[in-house]
Amino acid sequence: MKRDIIAGNWKMNKTNAETKELIKELAPLVKDAKCEVVVCVPFTDLDTARRAIRGTNIKLGAQNVHWAPKGAYTGEISAEMLKELKVEYVIIGHSERRQYFGETDASVNARTKAAINAGLKAIVCVGELLEEREAGKTAEVVVRQVNGALQGIDKSGLKKIVIAYEPVWAIGTGRTATAKDANDTIAIIRKAVRKLYGKTAARALRIQYGGSMNAKNASELMAMPEIDGGLIGGASLKAEDFAKVVNY
Ligand code: PGA
Repeated sequence: MKRDIIAGNWKMNKTNAETKELIKELAPLVKDAKCEVVVCVPFTDLDTARRAIRGTNIKLGAQNVHWAPKGAYTGEISAEMLKELKVEYVIIGHSERRQYFGETDASVNARTKAAINAGLKAIVCVGELLEEREAGKTAEVVVRQVNGALQGIDKSGLKKIVIAYEPVWAIGTGRTATAKDANDTIAIIRKAVRKLYGKTAARALRIQYGGSMNAKNASELMAMPEIDGGLIGGASLKAEDFAKVVNY
């Protein structure tokens, strides 16, 4: 049985002190969660978060990872470094990375391989821009991104991957995809995965929705048959809001 996964993407928010505070507040509110609960924090907060989640059901995630094991890559962080901090999940290819930091399908693929080879679980993000949606290109774009991200990864690698479908126009805008639209696009993603890995693997894969998901719309989204979780930005920055999503 696969378990739903709700992950908070804190983005570039929270200092160490704030991290400690937020997790302390969050832990008792999510302790009976039926889903997996993850917080993906800035690199500088990982160690603080690692300590703060001890003895709780909250899991630790990072927001990026480099593809090389080490070397002259100023400003980057390796999978081994994350492993040492007990990081379990890492977000890869978030649309903000694609948009502002030149992330491509090829770099997403390289980072994903490095992550899973090191024993991390990857949350791989895909999603179309507004103009792509309006041009009727949603399916084409997400399938291209999925095929690109998964290139050269075998069935056992897929087991360490979660896909997050995040329509870019819904991120941080307060504009959510309708539950039906989200469900339909996730079904398209799953079909692309089925083509690559077969029925059983595609069914077992967890695919999250992300983009202005919050306490109000979480239960409707999570009720959809194709949606196996959420990647939550803004609403993950307040314990009460995030807990409501987790306990949808
Ligand atoms: P949002 O962000 O919930 O603030 O829209 C989601 C994300 O970017 O992962």
